[in-house]
Amino acid sequence: MSIISVNDLVVSFGSGSDFKQVVKNVAFDVEPGETFGLVGESGCGKSTVLGALAGRIKGWSGSISIDGEAVGPKRSRSQLAKQQMVFQDPFGSLHPRHTIGRTLLEPLEIHGFDQRQERVERVLRDVGLPPGFRHRFPHQLSGGQRQRVAIARALILNPGILLLDEPTSALDVSIQAEILNLLKDLRERDKLTYVLVSHDMAVIAHLCNRVAVMLDGQFVEVASREQLLRGSVQHPYTRTLLDGSRGYVPPPKLAS
Ligand SMILES: Nc1ncnc2c1ncn2[C@@H]1O[C@H](COP(=O)(O)OP(=O)(O)OP(=O)(O)O)[C@@H](O)[C@H]1O
Ligand SMILES: [Mg+2]
Repeated sequence: MSIISVNDLVVSFGSGSDFKQVVKNVAFDVEPGETFGLVGESGCGKSTVLGALAGRIKGWSGSISIDGEAVGPKRSRSQLAKQQMVFQDPFGSLHPRHTIGRTLLEPLEIHGFDQRQERVERVLRDVGLPPGFRHRFPHQLSGGQRQRVAIARALILNPGILLLDEPTSALDVSIQAEILNLLKDLRERDKLTYVLVSHDMAVIAHLCNRVAVMLDGQFVEVASREQLLRGSVQHPYTRTLLDGSRGYVPPPKLAS
């Protein structure tokens, strides 16, 4: 059974002359343990799809099922805990005046978890940070460490699903691979399912089993990783994206 099932998803913002449909009849299923990618140009609606999945955006119609349960725009606490988001800019998404410990404890308190200190220490270890980091503030961390904290915060409620919105694009190139490998390791270890937004086809090919190519609020193609590596994609826009990343995605003759 799919862990995420989306049908006829339509998301609109504004009203009157400001009304704009930004996601148009999108449908996809994600299998447990799969990483499903979303690519497409700026403003095509990728973050909006994630926002609807996360329960952050309310103005949508269609159907979304998570873990076999149909969910609406308004979610219960337990429904919200099943999927967590990681954003592009870890500095902007962490409270500047809260210690890392407080940032990690807060969701545990809201959701009534026990053994909170132990959970904070464990999740810090899981993302490769020493326990003493819980006393630090975000400005006392490097960009990569901040993104590790953002991943820890997403993991602390033991969600089955991470919704990753450009999780490495604000980072130094040398740090990007570290974070991608961490995400890969966590996915294998905890059997996590990811929906990953990236503009970087190399990141997509590295992590995703399948990718949906979005253009102006619609999916124009869903391609498998093998199709990306072989270059055997259908839609001209997917071809343009692949051509734009040539040199990063292995050319067909090198693909395994
Ligand atoms: N809260 C909002 N109110 C009004 N319009 C919005 C809102 N959020 C997004 N939009 C509009 O919806 C469209 C899709 O935005 P979205 O953030 O999903 O794009 P994106 O594909 O994630 O782009 P990027 O790659 O730049 O992050 C854009 O035209 C954007 O201006
Ligand atoms: Mg976005």
